[in-house]
Amino acid sequence: MNTPDIITIDGPAGAGKSTLGALLAHRLGYLYFDTGIMYRALTFAVLDRKLEPQDSTAITELARTLDICIRPSASPDERHPTVLIAGRDITHDLRRLRIERNVSHVACHQPVRAIMRSRQREIGLRGKIVMVGRDIGNVVMPDAPLKIYLETSLEERARRRTDELRADGRAIQIGDVASDVERRDSLDRHVTIPAPDALIINNDDLSPEEEVEVILAHVAQNQWRPSVVSGRL
Ligand code: DC
Repeated sequence: MNTPDIITIDGPAGAGKSTLGALLAHRLGYLYFDTGIMYRALTFAVLDRKLEPQDSTAITELARTLDICIRPSASPDERHPTVLIAGRDITHDLRRLRIERNVSHVACHQPVRAIMRSRQREIGLRGKIVMVGRDIGNVVMPDAPLKIYLETSLEERARRRTDELRADGRAIQIGDVASDVERRDSLDRHVTIPAPDALIINNDDLSPEEEVEVILAHVAQNQWRPSVVSGRL
């Protein structure tokens, strides 16, 4: 089967983008690239240097110079690659609460986004890649041949996140998780926009494996746009 060289997957927090992205990349033998990790790594560096998440100038300078290295996962869970900043392994810090609480603020500065988007596009242009994020199909890779946008109800996203946290041994109430998901939605809303030509998949009632089948059926029907992807952001 002829497959699109670049596949983008966007959607809100908790929609299952990374699970789907890693699975699809694995199926196709593609690289899996979660762009949110770059914002998380930058947030780690911001807090580590005791910068204010609101300090656009200092964070822009940091984003320009920070050496973020993302390597394929060292664990069997392909959703979580190994991440180094300036040679320091911060993989296990990226999901911590203090990163969750600050990352939307760090990611909202436009000059910071411009730097991140340009780096993401450089990686995307290598091809044979599944890129996951919020603005990938719409802004970073608008010329990608296949764009997916995941929709999931708030209730379902809260339920999945609660299950995940409980599996990690955290005693947590679904209502608190739902409030947190809503808070993140409102902070990230300005960047989470489906590309006009995205395939929209509501996955409330689909497993990740079923989603992969939906996407591969779509690809097999040649419902994607082979395109010449080139140039810079
Ligand atoms: O997908 P995630 O939860 O790891 O994303 C972390 C943060 O980064 C979240 O606040 C949204 C932001 N983000 C973004 O603004 N643009 C992207 N392409 C990916 C993530």
